[in-house]
Amino acid sequence: MSVLRTLPVEDVLERTERSGLARRLSGVDLVGFGIGIIIGTGVFTLAGIEAKEHAGPAVVLAFLVGGVVAALAALCYAELASAVPTAGSAYTYGYTTLGEIFAWIIGWDLLLEFALGAAVVSRSWSGYVSSLLGLPPEWFSEDATVNVGAILIIGVLTVVAVLGIRESSWLTNALVVVKVSVCVLVIVAGLFFFNGAHLTPFVPPSQPAEQGASILEQPLVSAALGMEQSMYGFGGVLTAAAIVFFAYTGFEALANLGEETKRPRRDLPVGLLGSLVVCTVLYVLVALVLSAMVDYTQIDEAAPLAAAFHSVGAHWVAALIALGAVTGLTSVMMVELVTIGRIGFAMSRDGLLPPKLSQVHRKWGTPHRVTIGGAVLVMLLGGFVPIAELADMVSIGALSGFVIVAIAIPVLRHRKPDLPRPFRMPWSPVLPVLTAVACLYLMTNLSVLTWVRFAVWLALGLVIYLAYGYRKSRLATGAPVTDDASG
Ligand code: ALA
Repeated sequence: MSVLRTLPVEDVLERTERSGLARRLSGVDLVGFGIGIIIGTGVFTLAGIEAKEHAGPAVVLAFLVGGVVAALAALCYAELASAVPTAGSAYTYGYTTLGEIFAWIIGWDLLLEFALGAAVVSRSWSGYVSSLLGLPPEWFSEDATVNVGAILIIGVLTVVAVLGIRESSWLTNALVVVKVSVCVLVIVAGLFFFNGAHLTPFVPPSQPAEQGASILEQPLVSAALGMEQSMYGFGGVLTAAAIVFFAYTGFEALANLGEETKRPRRDLPVGLLGSLVVCTVLYVLVALVLSAMVDYTQIDEAAPLAAAFHSVGAHWVAALIALGAVTGLTSVMMVELVTIGRIGFAMSRDGLLPPKLSQVHRKWGTPHRVTIGGAVLVMLLGGFVPIAELADMVSIGALSGFVIVAIAIPVLRHRKPDLPRPFRMPWSPVLPVLTAVACLYLMTNLSVLTWVRFAVWLALGLVIYLAYGYRKSRLATGAPVTDDASG
């Protein structure tokens, strides 16, 4: 069946050598990029919301579960990215192992994850800036008909992304230092206001859901099993884990930078695992401090961390945190925009999207067309769509991508046992299969509505694939793989 045709690994490796993307990034740059994209709305906002709505102080456990699942996925990425360092990342791994239709699905899914992620973050950035500088909420908040702040920030960052990866890497590293310092400040300053009494009960007992709650808001797993709708309890912790998984999404973007990394085989595993470990430790500690500072029922959902410090009278710490949130969110959007460009580049190079999109700019060395195209989509989403509830879509998009990446490990080992793998995932196939199951399980804890929206996006993608990519892909037309002309 031709929808299952696969791309030879040799072609991918050969093309990587000729891509025209500049190899400028080091291992340290990658850790910076990783932290730059990982720490953001997830810890600054979702930690508080999930403690209040689903998990109580056990949001700490939710972050731990999310961190472990993300680390398992990162091990899978480290093996594949070190063996096949390519701009397409999961999309290309899917193409070489499971077949074209899976590759398309994963690429389509990743575009959703990053475009929606950047849009979510641009709106929360806009809200923080408005509260910090007192700008009018009718242009800068969730109530705005046109969110000017979201559109402006994406516009500015797109210019940086198009001008070149080196500039964006430099900017990201600078922003990351500020962001990590603010997390450390929250943890250290929070210890002075630590009230252990707020941590009991650690897992609030399960209780019936509020009257009028729709089945669409229920986690898929409990709706499928016909369970009563409930809040809190261990079910609540798992739902929170699936939602705060948003906080870890993005680390996989590092695998898209394989073609721009000086020594990808060594630097990619360092970047992937290094950035994830740093973020997991920071998240767990920030969640613990927040839960111990404020009773979970009293947490402010708009700016939980800043509000926690206001509530204990430490206003200067609160102001610094708001500033750090604005800074941190900037770097998340930056890396997400760069990543949209890289995924689109890889898909267009394979003929699944129009070839013009993959032309690399002569002077700037970046895939400018696809980056700008993606940014326009993000601006439309961020500017006009109230997307707070769509954050779950980012989690489901990321988790489904990880399922395919995990399955690709044993498949590729079977097909290409001799391919050099500078980093090998331990205990394959047991650990990759466990990773896939863990990701799927977390996905089933997301709401029915999230699943419906995800299915609609995938169906739309399949229509586009059958109408365009199926006929135009390089595998279908037999076009040479080396014509990545500069434009
Ligand atoms: N992981 C990123 C965040 O939390 C998307 O904002």
